[in-house]
Amino acid sequence: MNLMLFGAPGAGKGTQAKFLIEKYNIPQISTGDILRAAITDKTAMGMEAKKFMDEGKLVPDSTIIGIIKDRLVESDCKNGFILDGFPRTLAQAEALDELMNNMKISLDKVISLNVPDSNIVERITGRRTSKVTGKIYHIKFNPPVDEKEEDLEQRADDTEETVTKRLEAYHTQTAPLIDFYKAKGIFIELDGTKDVSEVTKDMINSLS
Ligand code: AP5
Ligand code: ZN
Repeated sequence: MNLMLFGAPGAGKGTQAKFLIEKYNIPQISTGDILRAAITDKTAMGMEAKKFMDEGKLVPDSTIIGIIKDRLVESDCKNGFILDGFPRTLAQAEALDELMNNMKISLDKVISLNVPDSNIVERITGRRTSKVTGKIYHIKFNPPVDEKEEDLEQRADDTEETVTKRLEAYHTQTAPLIDFYKAKGIFIELDGTKDVSEVTKDMINSLS
């Protein structure tokens, strides 16, 4: 199963991806996570990407397409994958089509988690990630049982100021992909404002 999770920053893509990994036993490919790992490792690509990410801007297509090209050919992708946060521009979507055509595979579904902008700032500024397990939490909506044990951290780009810019990038550069995937007949829209477990149920139902 080749899936893509689509939605605004903070819509719940990373949160829902975890359930799909378990259910279908396929890897999550998050370009955001790959870029953050490159920043932690202080690679040249990571340092260059950081400048864009800190400003809430999209990283250039050429960098992102290069990352995906290398990742899709890895052996764990042979039974499918979950794209999270990619593609984000029409150029990326077209490059993905070309890559998948060459591999003789195609996207089965694009799952859109619909959450209005008015909910996004609270979701993003309250997000915390565990340094121990990598799990995504929210201080209000999804707090960890034992905060100390999880050793929580906040993402560098999760400030109110940057969120506004990330939302702007989403509406101008990424939202045009909605029509692109609707035209292919594989676009599923879910109400992402429901509780995490409700969204998971809707998502699994929409795939079966
Ligand atoms: P990326 O890491 O992809 O961030 P994003 O798209 O902004 O999305 P988020 O990770 O912020 O949100 P999410 O939808 O995963 O939500 P989550 O599940 O964590 O990208 C970061 C940056 O990298 C970009 O700005 C860009 O610079 C660069 N980049 C990455 N990919 C790129 C690409 N393809 N092209 C160019 N540049 C790229 O949930 C958020 C919070 O809400 C959490 O606290 C969670 O607990 C809570 N929550 C989740 N679901 C619910 C619910 N149902 N109810 C209540 N709370 C919920
Ligand atoms: Zn995410």
